[in-house]
Amino acid sequence: MQLPRALGSDGRDLERPPGPDGLPLVGTQLSFLRDPYGFMTGISQEYGDIACWEDPGGLTYQLNHPDLIEQVLVTNNEHYIKGERFQSILRPVTGNGILNSEGAVWRRNRHLIQPAFHPGRIQEYATMMTDFTLEAVEDWADGETLSFHEEMSSLTLVIVARALFGVGIEDHVDTVGAALEEFMLASETLSNYALPPWVPTPSRRRIERAREQLDVLIYDIIETRKTEPTDHGVISQLLEVTDEQGEGLSDEQIRDEVVTLLLAGHETTALAMTFTAYLLSKHPRAEQQLVAELEAVLDGEPPTMADLGDLTYTEQVVKESMRLYPPVPGIVREPVKPDIIDGYEIPPGATIRMHQWVVHRDGRWYDDPLAFDPGRWTDEMESELPKLAYFPFAAGPRRCIGDRFAMLEARLLLATIYQRYHLELVPGTDLDLLATITARPTHEVPMVVHERER
Ligand code: HEM
Repeated sequence: MQLPRALGSDGRDLERPPGPDGLPLVGTQLSFLRDPYGFMTGISQEYGDIACWEDPGGLTYQLNHPDLIEQVLVTNNEHYIKGERFQSILRPVTGNGILNSEGAVWRRNRHLIQPAFHPGRIQEYATMMTDFTLEAVEDWADGETLSFHEEMSSLTLVIVARALFGVGIEDHVDTVGAALEEFMLASETLSNYALPPWVPTPSRRRIERAREQLDVLIYDIIETRKTEPTDHGVISQLLEVTDEQGEGLSDEQIRDEVVTLLLAGHETTALAMTFTAYLLSKHPRAEQQLVAELEAVLDGEPPTMADLGDLTYTEQVVKESMRLYPPVPGIVREPVKPDIIDGYEIPPGATIRMHQWVVHRDGRWYDDPLAFDPGRWTDEMESELPKLAYFPFAAGPRRCIGDRFAMLEARLLLATIYQRYHLELVPGTDLDLLATITARPTHEVPMVVHERER
């Protein structure tokens, strides 16, 4: 395809890194849709550290080297925003919550929400995380087949709601879970990307209905917090804030942050658990080593915060699982000022793609990169790894606010579950993944539960 001309800041034709030819009008979108993970990996293998092509949305760059990714996310982060392409997917769901906002609004609300994720505060959540997990697994019957991802989604949703808002949503978990699920599914359909926002597509109507159901509950939680204030919890913080004119946040602004945290705080961790269980089911020796560690350290008791320092293999399993199956498989940024990356001038408005999926599986940084080998995560190996060769939680100012929360939760859930059960993937189950904001499986991941002798 003949690429349209684009000019650099000096008025001359922009020099572009190599990249694939696309088809007229659709660019490379068909190849991406056919096999997204194969496409992004192929781009890295064929074109190297930086590639460029023209898509319907404009010039697109894919960065495949940790140092280039570090430049965008960390060193020169003020040159970049998330951009309309990313934000328009989430806007109908999370409005202007911190996952989606920019500038002063983002800065203020991130600052307000941050204390809920202070390491000291997060430690307080540990007991509650284990207790909810014990409660959930109590209902599992020996020999039962679970829809594992669904099971994990409900559990992580209940945990995040209790931790951040101080409310029990156990009675509403089906409504909230179904509404959030609807959002995720609908935001993944093509019609959302292709048609202008005012076209009432079926998926947009479903989003609208899901939003109405969810909002009834969320505004109810906000009202409860107004009449029964607590001295901690994200909603209480947001209710207290006022600007220079003494104005507080509107209920709608608070609602956006609540939905953001419910969504970002449960879907990703549930995926991490699902991928870990999938990998362990395929690697019995790793599972044996995990269980041996749990027996030695926990001696049959549920895991606590104090045990985590000794659960080193458990942590290695989580890290290795998020290397091979990063729950967020890629992120995008848009330059608002020109930047020079690897010698190429990147114009404002371009789309920059950076894929955890690609970099985490690159043989330059990992020996035998496709092997599931938790033991590779030694201190020595980590100290030699380029900083952004592993970035499941992104990096820089927009790094995941819930990274510590998620790591705590994943280790406690994994320990609590594997201490009691062996999970067997139903034979013949493939793990096909969507490549949108998260890497969710296209269909359920069924696991047969076997109680361990204890
Ligand atoms: C394994 C679990 C998780 C993974 C892999 C993950 C991954 C990520 C990534 C990659 C980003 C950056 C997105 C971007 O820059 O485009 C992000 C942002 C975010 N995450 Fe997480 N996340 C996880 C768990 C959580 C949890 C438990 C919470 C909250 C309880 C959370 C809340 C957020 C929020 C609010 C943002 C936006 C931060 C900002 O822009 O200031 N995440 N997450």
